[in-house]
Order: sequence, then C-alpha cells, then structure tokens
Amino acid sequence: MDAVRIYGGNRLCGQTTIQGSKNASLPILAATLLIEGTCEIENCPDISDVYHMQRLLTSLGCSVEREGMLVRVNTEGLSECDMPSDSVGVMRSSIMLLGALLARAGSVCMEYPGGCVIGARPIGLHLQSLRRMGVVIEEQPQGFCAEVTRLKGAVFRLPFVSVGVTENLLLAAVLAEGVTVIEPAAREPEIQALCDFLNLAGARIEGRGSDRLVIHGVEKLRPVRFRVPADRIVAGTYLCACMCTGGSVFLQDAPVQDMESVLEHARRMGASIDCAEDGILVNGRAHAGRICVLRTGCYPEFPTDLQSPFMVAMALSGCRGQIEETVFENRFRIVPELAKMGADICIQGNTAYIDGCRRLRGAIVHAQELRGGAALVTAALAAEGTSIVTNRHYIDRGYEDLVLRLRELGAAIELA
Ligand code: UD1
Repeated sequence: MDAVRIYGGNRLCGQTTIQGSKNASLPILAATLLIEGTCEIENCPDISDVYHMQRLLTSLGCSVEREGMLVRVNTEGLSECDMPSDSVGVMRSSIMLLGALLARAGSVCMEYPGGCVIGARPIGLHLQSLRRMGVVIEEQPQGFCAEVTRLKGAVFRLPFVSVGVTENLLLAAVLAEGVTVIEPAAREPEIQALCDFLNLAGARIEGRGSDRLVIHGVEKLRPVRFRVPADRIVAGTYLCACMCTGGSVFLQDAPVQDMESVLEHARRMGASIDCAEDGILVNGRAHAGRICVLRTGCYPEFPTDLQSPFMVAMALSGCRGQIEETVFENRFRIVPELAKMGADICIQGNTAYIDGCRRLRGAIVHAQELRGGAALVTAALAAEGTSIVTNRHYIDRGYEDLVLRLRELGAAIELA
C-alpha cells in the first residue's frame, strides 16, 4: 500500500484549496523552541515531514497537540538535547533544530540529517557558521555534538545562498548577544514567514525579504499565534497537473505574489493564468506547443522544487524544451522513469534537453524523492492508460491528501 494507481487521460477541473507551506511550517515549528510557553501555529499542513518535526519536538520534552490544522507547541517541559535518530535520519529540516536548541539549551547531539536524495546536501556551512557564533562542535562519523554557553552575534559573508543556513543562523541569532548580519541571505517567502513569526514574538530582525538580514539579539521571546502562508510549491504542482491534462482549476489561496516566475513560465508554455486576490485560475492547454527554456535558482528565480513537474509539462508540449538545474546536482532522477512512459529527455551535465512528444503512456514508475514523485503522478494523470507510482511515502512528505484532492478534481486515481 505504498503506491498510487492512476488511470490517465482525465482533465482536472474544479477548485482545490492550497495547504499551508511545508518549508515555512518546519522552521517555524523549530523556532517555537526559542519561546517559553505555548505557541499556536495555524494552517500547519498535515503531512509526514511536519509529523516528524512534531515527534522531534515531543522527544525533546515539548508538549505538541494537533487540532485540525492548528498545532500547539508548549516548550516548558524541554529537557532533552539528544534527538532520536529515526526522525533525524528521514528529514533534513531536523538540522533546523540545531540553531534553536543551542540558543535555548546550549547543547545538542544529533546524527547527520537525511531528507530527499537530490544531491549531496552537506551541512558544512551550517556547522562552520555556528562555530563563528562561539559554538564548539565535535564531529564523529555518524553525527556531532555541539555546545555553547551563550551564542554571540557575528557578521557573515556567506560563500553561497542557502535557505537552510539562513534559517539556522536566524534561529541562532535572535537570542544571541549582540548583532548578527547574514549576507547574502536567502530571500525565499518561507524565510520571510519565519522572520514574521520571530518578529511577532519580539525578535528584532531587519531586512525581511532582502539579501541582507540584520538581527539584533534580544533577551527573550513571547508566545504567539501565527498563520502559516499557503504553499507555493504545492500550488505550482497542481498548476502543472492542470496544464498537463488541459484542465481548468481554481487554486484557492495560492500565494500569487510569491509565484511570479512560475506563473510567467506557465504562461510561456501556453497556459492561461488569471490571478485574483484569493487564488489563481489556471486554464491549461495540454500540448501547447510552445518552446520553453527554464533555469532554476534562488528566489525570486524559478524554484528547483518545481523543476520536475515542469519537466513533465515540457515532455508533453510537443516541442523542444531545456532545463538548467543550478541548485541541486542530482535533481534529474525522474528522467529514466519518464523515459518508461515514452518521454525523450537527454541530460548533459546540469542541463536536460527535452524533445517533447504529445502523449505519454502509462507505466510502473518509482518515486525516489518528494517533488519528483509528485511530478510522476502529474505525468501519469496525462498519460494514456494505467500507471502505478511506487514509494508514495516520499510524496506524503509534502502533499496533504494528494489522492483525495486529485480525485475531487476528476482524476481517476486510487491508493494501490
Ligand atoms: C531548502 C528547501 C528545499 C529547496 C531548497 C532550495 C526546506 C525544508 N527545504 O532546502 O525544498 O529545494 O531549500 O530552494 O526548506 N549546501 C552546502 N552546504 C551546506 C548547506 C547547503 O553545500 O552546509 C548546498 C546544497 O547542497 C545545495 C545548495 O547549497 O546545493 C542550496 O541548498 P539549501 O538552500 O541549503 O537547501 P535546503 O535548505 O537543504
């Protein structure tokens, strides 16, 4: 029962509400560790990565309750600084707990984090940067122990932009002694959400949304209630599924303002996009026959997390496309799977050349990571015949009720 079966060919039509953002929820949940008392996080998606983060917080002694989409975290019982390896191993965002735990408890031991297999994803820059804030880190083959009396602010000129490092340093800096400067900081909307959460709780972060964040350390933060914004990557995935099947879907609550580059590429590929205050209406034209060249990058450029779904749209476009992946070196893992469905894609270095056909055929394909898995489902929705996508657990990491929601939009899809 770790697969989905899809009878392809149905156009997606109707309306779906976009869930809260995974990549915003995870660091915000980690940030609750900085706050004594109970924080209430609204619109927190019910997905397995969030569940693992809840488990990690519980294993540290916090009390965590979910009521629908509201998650309450009370950190008063925080007692442990060692994280259970089964959750750390499956989720890369566990590294996010490092900065927060050091700020709150002063010491932490953990195994090296896991997550999607989309590249080397080292954590060297996390550790190197925290050392500059006064943390002593002892590395062992399986993991590391870190310790600090009080974190000290520092000025960072980072060698490259990293979402995770920016978040970890933010979490370490808000309660640190003195001022921290992060440059270049990642500007992703999820980082903006984290800044909003922390500032609401009493932090002093300047430069939200820019590539230079200045954090003035404060003594204490207070508990708050905060609403997680909608997930731009999930919205982009449904948008792609709509384009590929030639459907018409209203993406309720989709964060229009955060999706400029995605919407521009979808329009270039022939989709009609109407933006409203409360969402996006997509009218897909399958096989639109428009050339598309795409290059992933840090926000506000095209997100690497939507590269695979757009590859499927290009594979179905009936003309040539090109994708340059600049963020993760191993993000073309769906190519051999798409080939089983009849796609013609050739990889040279970090560029994929797509010779778009007009139809794919059903096949048994294997998800190997989260976004690639969702892209294979997208391909299967548009393909002729029946497909089975295995390893559903990867998809469950980030998509709430994908099967149910797609079925509500008219897809013939079931658990298998
Ligand atoms: C986050 C997102 C992920 C998204 C990615 C890029 C979360 C939970 N995950 O991942 O969905 O695809 O941003 O937008 O928010 N790197 C190093 N050394 C380090 C840290 C990173 O070399 O210490 C490299 C990575 O291997 C990668 C690049 O930096 O090539 C960018 O990674 P980063 O921005 O840190 O991504 P994540 O935070 O892991």
